[in-house]
This record gives sequence, structure tokens and C-alpha cells, in this order.
Amino acid sequence: MEKGKFYITTPIYYPSDKLHIGHTYCTVATDAIARYKRMCGYDVMFLTGTDEHGQKIEEKAEAAGLSPKEFVDKIVEGPGGITDLWKLMNISNDRFIRTTDDYHVKAVQRIFKKMYDKGDIYKGAYKGMYCTPCESFWTESQLKDGKCPDCGREVHYAEEEAYFFRLSKYAKPVQELLESGTFLEPASRVNEMINNFIKPGLEDLCVSRTSFSWGIPVDFDPGHVVYVWVDALFNYCTALGFMNDKYDDYDKYWPADVHIVGKEIVRFHSIIWPAMLMSMEMPLPKKVYGHGWLVIDGGKMSKSKGNVVDPYKLADMFGVDALRFFLLRTFPFGSDGNFSNELLISTINTDLANDLGNLVSRTTAMVEKYFGGTLPEDREAAELDSELIELAKVSREKYEQQMDKLQLHLALEEVFKLIQRANKYIDETAPWQLAKDESKKARLASVLYNLLECLRISLIMLRPFIPESCGKAFAQIGADEKSVSWDSSCVFGTLPANVSVRKGETLFPRLDMEKALADLEKLNAPAKPQFDPIEPDVSIEDFSKCDMRVCKVLSCEAVKKSKKLLKFMLDDGTGTPRQILSGIHEFYEPEQLVGKTVVAILNLPNRKMMGQDSCGMLISAVHEHDGKEELHLLMLDDNIPAGFRLC
Ligand code: ME8
Ligand code: MG
Repeated sequence: MEKGKFYITTPIYYPSDKLHIGHTYCTVATDAIARYKRMCGYDVMFLTGTDEHGQKIEEKAEAAGLSPKEFVDKIVEGPGGITDLWKLMNISNDRFIRTTDDYHVKAVQRIFKKMYDKGDIYKGAYKGMYCTPCESFWTESQLKDGKCPDCGREVHYAEEEAYFFRLSKYAKPVQELLESGTFLEPASRVNEMINNFIKPGLEDLCVSRTSFSWGIPVDFDPGHVVYVWVDALFNYCTALGFMNDKYDDYDKYWPADVHIVGKEIVRFHSIIWPAMLMSMEMPLPKKVYGHGWLVIDGGKMSKSKGNVVDPYKLADMFGVDALRFFLLRTFPFGSDGNFSNELLISTINTDLANDLGNLVSRTTAMVEKYFGGTLPEDREAAELDSELIELAKVSREKYEQQMDKLQLHLALEEVFKLIQRANKYIDETAPWQLAKDESKKARLASVLYNLLECLRISLIMLRPFIPESCGKAFAQIGADEKSVSWDSSCVFGTLPANVSVRKGETLFPRLDMEKALADLEKLNAPAKPQFDPIEPDVSIEDFSKCDMRVCKVLSCEAVKKSKKLLKFMLDDGTGTPRQILSGIHEFYEPEQLVGKTVVAILNLPNRKMMGQDSCGMLISAVHEHDGKEELHLLMLDDNIPAGFRLC
């Protein structure tokens, strides 16, 4: 039955570094909700993507010696990149937007122009404190101890001619929106927004930049690029085809039913975003949900702190479903959660290996052992069954209530109450005793059938969280596609009376805590470099043909238009300076090398590089690892004079 549309989004991620377990948490949670809604019969549109503009990306790209687009392409679509991670994590997004996509760029230009024409965007001058990593201007009163209130890093004074959005004009309607109903959840975030941002007075927002160029150009005023947050927020509409021809789903899916966002970007989504939509006279999203952070020892994960947890490694070691499950079972979605390896391992053991895994394997093993894999149709009910069956029926209702409130961990709690009850039922009914008595076969069949039904219903509810494992488990308990539908989860007795099971692989092997922790530690230890094998022998005569000499660096400069090349003038002891080009700029700045004592091979044929002569080659120690080169220019004791020969 068609239930209408459901449009859900994740934030679009900055492709500035590899994503970590915190980003994975946000996307996996959104995926579970999207899968749940699809299962319930909604026509779901699930959008995720990447937020690719802004000064931070421009700076990172420059540091990496790449153009911004080359840089983001690698992180978004390259091996081990963002799209790969979502594939690995079994994310079921229907669409993926990159804000560098042409259709988005054009649409944002049209949107910006429309707000300008309306008078909601005007030209002025910006003066204030700017946090580069967060791409945010802050007023003095917003700073915390003079630092960025979001990330705690240094801010600097910045001033520029800029366009402004009349955010102040929308303060009242935005406040009303926040105070009415359930636009922003959890409710605690509403007060935070009103007290911290609206009450002190909403100032107009600076929405263009001139101090860098990596952004969407304001097409009617060259030199200005659109503030990255304006560009980014409208992704939720342009990805549906708003103000562009790439897609045609805007009328169908807009407004969003829920934007899932992390707590630090609630401000953008619950104040700036609705204000801009009001200006555009567009319908407002129905809900913004601000989830908490995964933290380590109470602090946010960040590359600079070196506490980033790599989801690839965890998924590889424990399995994708175990990782997905852990994230959503353990931490209340609205609050911060303290990540630890011990917690991960113990959750896998307790819930997945013991409770769920055991129930599947014990039940299917007993059907095989006592009935050759297929239940007979004769039944004998008992008083004891009713409590279990009752619980199975209410579980799904309670689960549904929690899922609809996005209380994912509480929804899972309901499922595990049923699973634990079913395990207890095995102890209460003691099927191994029943099996000893031929006259109790019908009773035994009832017990096993009830267990299979509890499993079927539990697995339907678990499916949005651990889709792949549920598929395998359904096959093991003999449930076909029809008997795993959402509607069938409220009908106890859906499996055929003569159901056949198929014992399969262990779904979630029990982990040895000590060993798993040790393995993780090994995995996280920096890999020891693997060195190339030794080359075949050469004769001493051949070797001595190489004329390697001690040289002094007289001067060194970067070659124009080249990212890699440095040009050296060397004293090689002959009295005539020698010019050598070397592609080592990634590793050294020219000033570091002037005056150093280095080694060069002098009797190589001359080469032209970028139009300049190179007469010889500098000797370096080089190692390639994971596609990355590490290089150290060979430097000698400065007491050794130029022109000495190496032999
Ligand atoms: O903010 N725990 O991108 P982003 C939980 N491009 N969630 C975390 C987390 C953690 N440790 N670390 C990050 C942006 N996140 C903007 C969004 S939307 C129009 C533009 C979450 O890559 C974070 O809270 O910095 C945010 O919701 C998301 O990852 C993207 O963060
Ligand atoms: Mg962020």
C-alpha cells in the first residue's frame, strides 16, 4: 500500500579529509530510517552528497599540490573515498549530489539572484572575526574565550565588501517556527537556538566572499563567490531539480520530511535555512533532527587530535552489519556517545552473537535435529505460549512508535526484549526434554514454530539496521519474501505450518575481547614499510662507471609553473656551476637546501625539463608506500669538500 512520499537527507560532507566513524554514524542512522520508511510502504527519496566549495578545501588542495577539483575528486570518488565508503556501509541513498555539479552551480546562481532581486540580499561591507576551518564569521559576543565557539580554534579579523542576506527580517517568523510544534528536535535544541542566537538578536548574514575564489561565482558581480553555506543548504532542493533541468522531482518530494544533521550545524538548518526558504517563498522542511556526536574520552574526533576512528578498518574486522548495529544500538540518537573499542566488541558479543545469533542457530538446529529440518503440521499450544506471542505482537507497535520518533536505540531495545524473551522461552519449554517423549512431538513443533515466528518478526524490525544479515537469517528460518513484509510483522503465524529451515553460517561469531583488542591495535599501528627486493648483481667495473660527486648547493629555486621541480646550481668542484633539476618540491622548500652538501651523478645524459637543462641527477633515499612517496635528499657532512668522488 502506497503511503505517500518521504524525503530524508544527511548533511553533505566536506571532502577535506577521509571520513571517520562519526560521519559514518550520521549516514548509517539516516539509512536505517530511510530503509524503515521504504519497508513501511513510503515512496522514499534519500539524499546524501558532498559539500565541495570553500576556503578550507581551497587551502587543503593547495597544500596537496592539486587543483581544488582534482583534490575533491580524489576524496569523493577515488579509491577508499566517500562514495566507496557508502557502498561498503550498504547505504541505500537514492541520489548523491556534489555541489560542484554543474546543475547545482547554475541553480544556486539563480537562487542568489532571486533573493537579490527581491531585496533580501544587498551589498555591504563585512567586518568581523572569521574561523577558517568552520567557514564561519562570529560576532565578538559569540566567541568563547576569544576562540571559535564551534571548534575552539583561533579566529582572525576579516573585512571585505560583501553581500548580506536579511536574516534579521526573518527573526520573528523563525522564532515562531522553532516554538511551534516539532520543527526542531530533540526539543532541547530549540531553547539552545532561541537563547543563543535569536534572543541576542539576529544580524544579517554575510553571504558572499571575495578573499578566495573556490566557490560558486556570483554571476552578476565577478570576484564574489557565494558563501559556502548558502551553496550547501540549497543542495536539498537542487538535487530534486529545483531551478534546474537535471531532475524533475521537486514537486513530488519537497518539502523534506526530515533533515538529519549533527548538533553543531543545527544553527544553519533551523535558523538560516528556513529564513532563506521563507525569502524564496518555498515550503519549509517538516523537521530538522540534530543528533549528537560520537566522542572519544569526551572530546570530538578530529584529525588534528589524532583520534579519528577509521570505519574501513572496523568494518573489515567486525563486518559492516555489526558496525552499523553497534552505532545505532548503543548511543541515544539525540545525545553524544562515547566511542570505545571495548564497547563495540561487547555489544557485538552480547546482542548479536549471544542473543540474536544464538536464537537463530539454536532454533534452526533443533528443527533439523528433531524434525529433519521441516516442521510437522500437528500442534499443541500451551498456557506458556501466550505471553511470548503477546509480546511479539506489541513489540512491533512499540518499535514503530520509537522509529517514528527517530529513537533508533529505543526501537532496537524493543526488538531485543522480544529476542531475550524468546531465549528464555527455550529454557522454560526445554525442547530437549519434549524431544525425548514421542507423545510430545506436537508440543515440540509448537514451541519451535513460535520461536521461528518470534525470529521472523524480530528480523523484520532489524532489517533496516542490519539488512544483509537479516537476508541470510530469513533464508535460514525458511521465510520467503512474502513472509518478511512489514505488514506481515503484525501477524503471528505467517510462516507456513510445515516450514523448512536451512541451517547456515554463523551470523555473528563470538569475539574474544582480548584478542580482538590486540588485533585492533595491530591494525591501527602504522604499517611497517615493505621494501623492494634487492636488484641483480652488477660488476664493480659497471658500478664505478657512475660518477657520483659531493656537491654544494649554491642556489635553489622553484621552477615557475611546475608543482614539483626545483632548480639547483651546484658547486661540483670543477669551478663551473652545474645546473640540475630535481622533482622534490613536495618534500623541500628551496630555502631549506641552500648551502647543503649533497650527492649527484654527473655523467648522465643532459635532460630538458620544463624547457630547462638538467645536467645530472641528485641522489635521494626514496620509498613508495600506499601510493605515497616518501623522499629524503641525501645530505652529507658539510666538512666534506665539493668534488670528492663517492666510491
Ligand atoms: O558540516 N559524531 O560537513 P562535515 C557524529 N558540509 N557526527 C559527526 C561527527 C562525530 N564525531 N563528526 C562529524 C558539514 N559529524 C557541512 C554540512 S549540510 C548542508 C552541510 C557529522 O563533513 C556532523 O555533525 O563537517 C555533520 O552533521 C556531518 O557529520 C557532516 O560534517
Ligand atoms: Mg562540520
